[in-house]
Amino acid sequence: MTHAIIIDTDPGIDDAFAIALAHYSPAIEILGLTTVFGNVSVAQSTDNAAALNALLGSDYPIAAGCGLPLQQAPNDFPDFVHGHNGFGDVDYTVPPYTAQPVDAADFIIETLRARPGEVTLVPIGPLSNIAMALHREPRVAQWAKGVVLMGGAGTVGGNVSPVAEANIWNDAAAAQKVFEASWEIVMVGLDVTHRVVMPRTAAQALAESSPKVGGFLAEISDFYANFYESTRGFAGFCVHDPTAIAYIIDPSLFGTRRGLVEVTTSGPGIGQTIFAETGKEEYPDPIWASRSNVSLCTEVQGDDILELIQSTLGAAP
Ligand code: BDR
Ligand code: CA
Repeated sequence: MTHAIIIDTDPGIDDAFAIALAHYSPAIEILGLTTVFGNVSVAQSTDNAAALNALLGSDYPIAAGCGLPLQQAPNDFPDFVHGHNGFGDVDYTVPPYTAQPVDAADFIIETLRARPGEVTLVPIGPLSNIAMALHREPRVAQWAKGVVLMGGAGTVGGNVSPVAEANIWNDAAAAQKVFEASWEIVMVGLDVTHRVVMPRTAAQALAESSPKVGGFLAEISDFYANFYESTRGFAGFCVHDPTAIAYIIDPSLFGTRRGLVEVTTSGPGIGQTIFAETGKEEYPDPIWASRSNVSLCTEVQGDDILELIQSTLGAAP
């Protein structure tokens, strides 16, 4: 069975891995790339999506989206994680391209309207475009097959504050709007992505078996690995966004817990994703039993995901 998806993205080094993984997976049909600020500005992330189309030899529609969070003041771009250009400050060519005449939110709305019940949204950046689509057309929550997102930290600490993960922290109000909508959400957050760590040797192996695509990914991941190894003590780099793609390809690689997520939208804890497991506790405030629409990934077979990335991308040119 093929999964039709829209990838909402802020490329970004791990976003590049994710888009390449989805492109080469026979289980996935990419309907479009919608872009958002996050790792870089939205102008840069849109150019980077076009550069990935050129790298992959694809022609996915690209729709540019939000350049700012819905409510909060914007955070600085994390150039120390992804480089100033989002691709580890490696030089690359942005081909001539034409973005869609509609913005990301309208692209999402029109695509879901045309294929109700068939399309999964895969946000791997801040959730601003998805919230904007919900704001303009609340029926997208019924039309989407579901949402599989990379973001949040349900049972573990954060990566940009003690409690917040970067994608949620970058637009907390948007995330709250997405989590409270009446659709099925799979949350692929730091609970699992901090356990899917690609060693430099694996990136090198990818470059050897796939000189063009794997070679570019390995080259840009050098900068990213420096960050993870020197500041976070990982033996390699976290492949956050590809882990969300891996969930779509093979959900049996994950264990999940069911519940709801409320997002902290102000104060020092902004961006925290508070997970309340269905049926576990009775709390006085009824909000904690008000929904059960989130499957939080809490278990992962990280080595199998690295193997999936290697076997899928290793066959690329
Ligand atoms: C997320 O933040 C970005 O830096 C990555 O691309 C990923 O989507 C990880 O917290
Ligand atoms: Ca991302």
